Amino acid sequence: MGSTAPLADKDRIFTNVYGFQSPDLKAAQARGDWDNTAVLMARGQDAIIEEIKASGLRGRGGAGFPTGMKWSFMPKEPKPGKPNFLVINADESEPGSCKDREIIRHDPHKLIEGALIAGFAMRARAGYIYIRGEFIRESQALERAVAEAYDAGLLGKNAARSGYDFDLFVHRGAGAYICGEETAMLESLEGKQGKPRLKPPFPAGAGLYGCPTTVNNVESIAVVPTILRRGAAWFAGFGNPKNEGTKLFQISGHVNRPCVVEETMGIPFRELIDRHAGGIRGGWDNLLAVIPGGSSVPLVPAAEIMDAPMDFDGLKALGSGLGTAAVIVMDKSTDVVQAISRISYFYKHESCGQCTPCREGTGWMWRTMERLREGDAEVATIDRLLDVTKQVEGHTICALGDAAAWPIQGLIRHFRPELERRIAERRGRTMLEAAE
Ligand SMILES: Cc1cc2nc3c(=O)[nH]c(=O)nc-3n(C[C@H](O)[C@H](O)[C@H](O)COP(=O)(O)O)c2cc1C
Ligand code: SF4
Repeated sequence: MGSTAPLADKDRIFTNVYGFQSPDLKAAQARGDWDNTAVLMARGQDAIIEEIKASGLRGRGGAGFPTGMKWSFMPKEPKPGKPNFLVINADESEPGSCKDREIIRHDPHKLIEGALIAGFAMRARAGYIYIRGEFIRESQALERAVAEAYDAGLLGKNAARSGYDFDLFVHRGAGAYICGEETAMLESLEGKQGKPRLKPPFPAGAGLYGCPTTVNNVESIAVVPTILRRGAAWFAGFGNPKNEGTKLFQISGHVNRPCVVEETMGIPFRELIDRHAGGIRGGWDNLLAVIPGGSSVPLVPAAEIMDAPMDFDGLKALGSGLGTAAVIVMDKSTDVVQAISRISYFYKHESCGQCTPCREGTGWMWRTMERLREGDAEVATIDRLLDVTKQVEGHTICALGDAAAWPIQGLIRHFRPELERRIAERRGRTMLEAAE
């Protein structure tokens, strides 16, 4: 079992996440990036995939799928006319998530070197970084870094003198949350509307232009060179079983010092907040609830999260999830019903409209949440809302439907008395007004 003790500076992968140093190639090389990349690649494609499997790395884009296993699904001998592709997901539009942009702004060469190694391991000759439309400065930073890598012979023909040819392209989206879903991203890359595809086929079978494709999150790719340099055992030495490694946490909301910080997976919530975010605003007794993994995961009430391990399985056990590790902290000043209603509005707004339960359900759920916020409902409305969330969850093409359902389910599970109080209060007010 690995350690969940706080991460020592010597074990940080992202040593320039705050941008105290330059993001340029020279400074990146001084930090250890692009150091003998060809030697890492000389280990061979299968050995690299095995090393990533052994490291325990799970995808950092939200679902936590094991990265090495995902890579192993790619064909070892691409068929003529069906090349393998790597697509890197830099869409980062989940409310609360703000880590990939920091990597891109301040440590882009970790991502670019990781792209070359991951592309090589999966026998891809080309990679695409799909970056969110609103990230104008970030895409400029990324394009600058990619150009630097080409100029230095680290990309293109005989990339990094490895004998392997690999091209990397930066593609800016137009700013739609749904394009972060991997198959919508592929549609968008192909120049179509970003609407998710039915799975199967999965991208490893038929992805970009119908060719085998792996989509990985920015952080998942950017940690790869360091894992290979320091070894799978080193990475797997952090965190609980099946939840290994270090992780960029993004702490926002009612803490004294919101921040993005790399920490050990599985660090207890209280320690994460005290150590890096200066504690809860107004003290620990003032904590109401936490959304631990970005807007799509259910909230967890204060008492349950205090000592919880911040990892995939620890938060799943609480009925929530690590998601992207975007930790949204809410103190007792929060109108929790309004907060979840606002999240419902976001999912209604971002639904691509392809499937009926999501297209109709997200709007209905938001409107009902607004009524509950006002208390303008019956107690039975709460049960009907819960029932509708269950009809949306698991009945749609992509996970946006689930993402719209879960926050409401979490609210009803943990704050039902507050919903009922509002209904009773409103009814009392109405009766009083009628009597006057
Ligand atoms: C609606 C929706 C939005 C998503 N947005 C993102 C995103 O912005 N970034 C991301 O990496 N993954 C996002 N995902 C998850 C991707 O579909 C995919 O699982 C991920 O990029 C895989 O990378 P990983 O295995 O490295 O985690 C989203 C999924 C859904 C359903
Ligand atoms: S679940 Fe929603 S966002 Fe996803 S494909 Fe269906 S309608 Fe589109």
